[in-house]
Amino acid sequence: MLVSCNSSEKKSEPGYGVKKESPTPKTEASTDFRDNKGVGPVTSVTLGENIDTALAEEGKTIYANLCMACHKPDQKFIGPAPKGIFERRSPEWIMNMILNPEGMVKEDPIARKLLMEFNGAPMANQNLTEEQARAVLEYFRTL
Ligand code: HEC
Repeated sequence: MLVSCNSSEKKSEPGYGVKKESPTPKTEASTDFRDNKGVGPVTSVTLGENIDTALAEEGKTIYANLCMACHKPDQKFIGPAPKGIFERRSPEWIMNMILNPEGMVKEDPIARKLLMEFNGAPMANQNLTEEQARAVLEYFRTL
């Protein structure tokens, strides 16, 4: 009797004792794009009050060489147009999309949706450095 009583007592799970319960269960990631920084190396970007024209010029050249095969500045092409992109994506998200498109498409909800919208045509990793991606981001501010 005693044995069965003891064994039926639910063992507390010591490993889970420290598990943090979130007060409000999150069903989905935030729907505000500003909260979505994407997945990748970039966690924080500061945009200057004024556009850095030299940096933007540099970005424009990179964009012309490595991106225009699939992107036009202001019109949908094989990929979306970056004109007005800051109204729908955070700067961090944009840079992570440039630097880590494979990871983004796997793990980021916006990127996944975008891939479907573009019928599975993936964004190409052009192996930009973080500095180059930042220059392209500055160029996007001029569009
Ligand atoms: C081989 C074609 C191709 C090349 C080259 C390419 N992209 Fe893309 N890009 C795409 C496609 C297709 C998408 C949309 C579908 C997806 O994300 O899977 C996309 C999406 C993006 C997005 C997200 C746009 C949005 O509205 O959310 C950004 C930003 C982007 N590309 C930037 C760049 C930059 C910068 C370069 C050059 C360094 C570049 N891409 C080169 C095909 C390309």
